[in-house]
Amino acid sequence: MTTLHLASGPQLANAWTIVRLSLHVLAASVWVGGQLVLAGLVVTLRGISHDAPGKVARAFARLSWPAFWLLIATGVWNYLALDHADATTSWNVVFGVKMFCVIVAGLGAFMHTKATSPTAKGVYAGVGTIATIAALVLGVALSG
Ligand code: HEM
Repeated sequence: MTTLHLASGPQLANAWTIVRLSLHVLAASVWVGGQLVLAGLVVTLRGISHDAPGKVARAFARLSWPAFWLLIATGVWNYLALDHADATTSWNVVFGVKMFCVIVAGLGAFMHTKATSPTAKGVYAGVGTIATIAALVLGVALSG
């Protein structure tokens, strides 16, 4: 009697999937990781000079906003690349919640740069950072 072996072990991603997800994860690491590292350096930067945190934040913005737009572009690519015929309700709900988090993350970061009072800056940074981390975790959930 012959036994049929179906391929059920770990599978390698194909070349375009590697490009698509690598760009998405690379952009996420700059956008999310940069924000966390910058937050951790603020006290040290303030010790160097009063205006050092602002200068470094503006330099970081020149890297983080292109990373954010790359996240949006590769995110749309991710969505279009997947076969949605069999998408579960929970996948669709998680995707919707993730899109809400992405909008809050972008708005939070933008309002943080525009705010003038330290309290408003802190609130926008906090809300934006939490939404960004939520978008990352939900993204991992979406990739199954
Ligand atoms: C703050 C912005 C975002 C962050 C931090 C983020 C982060 C992530 C991460 C970490 C993954 C998991 C990748 C993996 O496990 O290989 C992922 C997957 C995914 N993301 Fe995003 N993402 C963002 C924005 C977006 C946007 C705007 C869209 C859609 C327009 C999107 C759609 C998706 C989809 C569909 C997947 C699953 C991909 C797959 O399974 O092939 N993401 N995201």
